[in-house]
Amino acid sequence: MAKWQNKFSSKIGFIAAASGSAVGLGNIWKFPYEVGTYGGAGFLLLYIICIVVLGYPLVVAELAFGRKMQSGPYKAYMSLESKRWKALGSFVVLCSLVVMSFYNVVVGWTLGYFFETIKGNLLNTSEFGDFFTQFTQSIANNFIYTFLVAISIALIIKDGVSKGIEKWSKILMPLFLITLIGLTIYAFTLENALKGLEFYLVPRLSSITMSAIYTALGQSFLSLSVGLGILITYGSYMKKDTSIPNSAAIITLSDTGVSFLAGLFLFPFIFYQNIEPSQGPSLAFISLPSVFKALGPTLGVMVGAAFFLLLAFAAITSSISILEVVTTYMIERYHTKRRKAVLLASISAFVLGIPSMLSMGGSTFFKNFLVHKGVKYDFLKFISDVTTEIVLPLTNFLFSFFIAYQWKTKNLFIEIRKGSKNYRKTWFEKYINFMISYTCPILLGVILILNILQFVFGIRVVDIFSIVEF
Ligand code: ALA
Repeated sequence: MAKWQNKFSSKIGFIAAASGSAVGLGNIWKFPYEVGTYGGAGFLLLYIICIVVLGYPLVVAELAFGRKMQSGPYKAYMSLESKRWKALGSFVVLCSLVVMSFYNVVVGWTLGYFFETIKGNLLNTSEFGDFFTQFTQSIANNFIYTFLVAISIALIIKDGVSKGIEKWSKILMPLFLITLIGLTIYAFTLENALKGLEFYLVPRLSSITMSAIYTALGQSFLSLSVGLGILITYGSYMKKDTSIPNSAAIITLSDTGVSFLAGLFLFPFIFYQNIEPSQGPSLAFISLPSVFKALGPTLGVMVGAAFFLLLAFAAITSSISILEVVTTYMIERYHTKRRKAVLLASISAFVLGIPSMLSMGGSTFFKNFLVHKGVKYDFLKFISDVTTEIVLPLTNFLFSFFIAYQWKTKNLFIEIRKGSKNYRKTWFEKYINFMISYTCPILLGVILILNILQFVFGIRVVDIFSIVEF
């Protein structure tokens, strides 16, 4: 093992870091909305099926490949004999860098909103949409808060795996969970909480359409952070006596559990004020602040500040893992010292993030970046949609295909058997083998084609086959 590359010192530290990577903005502002829109508990069930057929097998495979290769994605693919796959490592790292460039901008907004809530500015307004527009179009706000996020993450990971990532994940994840549980308990005491829970959880079979299936599939791998080389990198820091099936199960369960809890607190809040359930920035930065305001000046500030801090903690632990992928690349490719690699990776993400920082109004060019097939894209929306709808299905498709038909699942199982006591070889291996060899490549290939048809050519296959909507 190279000198710069230490390991997670404890199983709990590894679990905190890997779950922290999975739990992010997606869990809080995407998942609950999707459950509410696409049929309540019915969607939840659909999502769990996607996790079983797609998410969990991919988590297992990434961890095992990383631990076997003892390196990040760049070196792992470069050490293969086959020339065909060598470029995949660099491609995955490039995708991580792009994701970090816009993800950190949004993390910056959560931090900014935390301060604006504490200062009283946010809840003193009555036009939350205007407040959001003014806040996000300010070049200074975007630069300052994204810079603060970049510096904090760089400071956390500069000290390496056990003294940096592990130490901070063990602090941030419990704080995150305490805040989440506190907000959920509080949400249950609100008027109309039951109505919110009913909307969230009662199955409405008519809403389980083809788009619901499609959304559940996409959300499952986005939420688990598979496809960006993160779990390959974290897998390489895992000790050989740690069980991969169990660790992957804990990561998957905690990620899904957090998403579920997020809905339990968000819907009572939404129904308290009878606002329209929405997702993404408008849920967190426009809809919810009006609920916080209705709670009164003191309580509103406390609950609002807790919420934005919750978002920031969730997002920072995800950003840490993405920056680690790029840092590892700098070290493995250019033999740079760790601290210099962290600095270079952070600066690259910051510079690459400038168009995203300007895309809410700071620059007219990036604000009106593209109109394609009737949809208006600012730069941030464009880059985040391309990543989640095209790039992630592509990298996950290539990875499952690579494991099944190039690296071979037998090598996967040799690695998995290490550190897995009481491991039921027959059914587990049959299950993973089937999912990685057939289900993942086929489903991911189909999602990729459907997304390209919709995103690039504006053809919604779901509409063409609307007959299958039930
Ligand atoms: N998995 C992270 C999220 O859900 C990236 O936001």
